[in-house]
Amino acid sequence: MLTGVTTTGTPHLGNYAGAIRPAIAASHNDDANSFYFLADYHALVKSQAPESVHQSSLEIAATWLALGLDTDRAIFYRQSDIPEIPELTWILNAVTAKGLMNRAHAYKAAVAVNEESGSHEPDKGITMALFSYPVLMAADILLFNAHRVPVGKDQKQHVEMARDIAQRFNHNFKELFVLPEPVIDDNTAVLSGLDGRKMSKSYNNTIPLFVAEKKFRKLIMKIKTNSLEPGEPKETKGCALFEIYQAFASEAEVEMMRQRFADGIGWGDLKQELFEYLNEHLSGAREEYNRLLADPGHIERVLKKGSVRAREVAVPFIAEVRAAVGIRPLG
Ligand code: TRP
Repeated sequence: MLTGVTTTGTPHLGNYAGAIRPAIAASHNDDANSFYFLADYHALVKSQAPESVHQSSLEIAATWLALGLDTDRAIFYRQSDIPEIPELTWILNAVTAKGLMNRAHAYKAAVAVNEESGSHEPDKGITMALFSYPVLMAADILLFNAHRVPVGKDQKQHVEMARDIAQRFNHNFKELFVLPEPVIDDNTAVLSGLDGRKMSKSYNNTIPLFVAEKKFRKLIMKIKTNSLEPGEPKETKGCALFEIYQAFASEAEVEMMRQRFADGIGWGDLKQELFEYLNEHLSGAREEYNRLLADPGHIERVLKKGSVRAREVAVPFIAEVRAAVGIRPLG
């Protein structure tokens, strides 16, 4: 099992509930051999702000470690520490149909924006990195022969493309690559953000997971609600506050909360309670997070150790791949 996180932005509650928590739970599982990595080459597609890419790598690594990623079992590394990934990317470029990349959602969306703006240049502002992003992602996955790739719905197409690319390589050269499957868990929570839209760094409506207590409370108080008064029964469905509570609370707690919505809990009281609840749940990890941020050298050592383990797999495998395409010693 393998999954990557693009190093842009600061981890938020939505990332936690949707991706980080299930991944950390899986890292404690002996059944799977898991690979988790910081996709910092992917970050360059979206951001050319060096300081923020660097800072985001630090924050994401600290978050995963603070929340208890089991780095003895799981292999935790940084994409850019594995030179075999860009090496494989090039080889895969040679078996990737350009037409396949033309169909990638992210590229099509960027072209659509240009067309809607009336531009005569459909590829305006689109880099080769954005266009060929799925090939880099295929290399991430195929280099480790991952069987299962847990991703959000928006990434499903990329995993399917990795499968297509693997198939083409296997057919043209040698059966070296496992065909990966996307794993999309429909039960994992998708949280709404401050403005009611999906919590996402692209909407700028996120609540960071580890922000100082005062700021955290302020943000929770800012979550948009309707204008129902205390005492009026309220819907849980589509309520951002309820969703967030549900992502953290036990089933019994959620049932009690449902009743309190029916009984007309006031939004102000609910926000205060939600703040206290989350704060209590996150404060231990937040302390650990702050401790880790103050010791980036430790994080660096953890990642370097992870990359040594990852390369134990990658180095011999890339040699097989190179040999299969005819790149090998002459004598
Ligand atoms: N593109 C993924 C995202 O933005 C991150 C990613 C990069 C990834 N490489 C990967 C996920 C390989 C799974 C497997 O969310």
